[in-house]
Amino acid sequence: MSRRTCHISADRTSIGDWHILDGQFITFEGGEGAGKSTQIARLKAHLEAAGLTVCVTREPGGSPGAETIRELLLSGAAQKLGPRGEALLFAAARADHVDSLIAPALARGEWVLCDRFADSTRVYQGEAGVKGNILDMLETIAVAGQRPDLTILIDVPAETGLARVNTRVASLSSDGPDRFEGEELAVHERRRMLFLDLARREPARFVVIDGRQSAEKVEADIWLAVRQHFSDLLAGQSDTGGGAAGPGAGGAQSSGKTHAAKA
Ligand code: TYD
Repeated sequence: MSRRTCHISADRTSIGDWHILDGQFITFEGGEGAGKSTQIARLKAHLEAAGLTVCVTREPGGSPGAETIRELLLSGAAQKLGPRGEALLFAAARADHVDSLIAPALARGEWVLCDRFADSTRVYQGEAGVKGNILDMLETIAVAGQRPDLTILIDVPAETGLARVNTRVASLSSDGPDRFEGEELAVHERRRMLFLDLARREPARFVVIDGRQSAEKVEADIWLAVRQHFSDLLAGQSDTGGGAAGPGAGGAQSSGKTHAAKA
């Protein structure tokens, strides 16, 4: 999946102060091997068929500054900083990503699909022992008011997800699992429970999708959930996306819903 489909803003001052944002911000969360990348590409196709402009991005990374930090984090080079130090790096990467890519894209009215966001820090760095109050502060600073409109949690048992990762690693003859994939099974299972806890605490923002199903069924469940969540914007879209409302066919109605964000 091509991740760099969004325009990076070089002008940070353009997102200062209060802005009314018309775009929609959807994040995907889940453990390793949940199938997020595949499903993001499929949702992007549905939304584009509805005439919307979609920006796909990911964390850690998504902007040039954040991609530099990604390298440090996933290689394990930052592990010696400890979980709190790693959490600070994830937050620094997120701040750059929000300022230079996410907020400008939303301000242009785009739909931003982001592979992981602040919930991943809550789960991964929370599981590693970083206290909730510290995670609260980091999140407040990093997201600068930019919270997801919808978070899609693709839930799979840790064993299933890890088996998929191992198959992928073997088939790509890569260097092996990254810093966070390589943890033991119990750690992955605890992360899964933490994601489910977050979803239970914020049912209006989260939708939980059973990731053990076929990719087609997961895709259909996600598209249904998105149409239901944004029913004011996606009214008339069919089960299969494209259908009656192709690009320019009136699917991209102007947002009845606006968001104010402090950058
Ligand atoms: P990535 O290669 O993007 O994989 P995935 O397909 O699992 O998203 O790896 C990102 C890793 O970084 C993943 O193991 C989760 C971890 N992570 C955190 O620990 N904290 C965070 O805040 C984020 C965004 C990711």
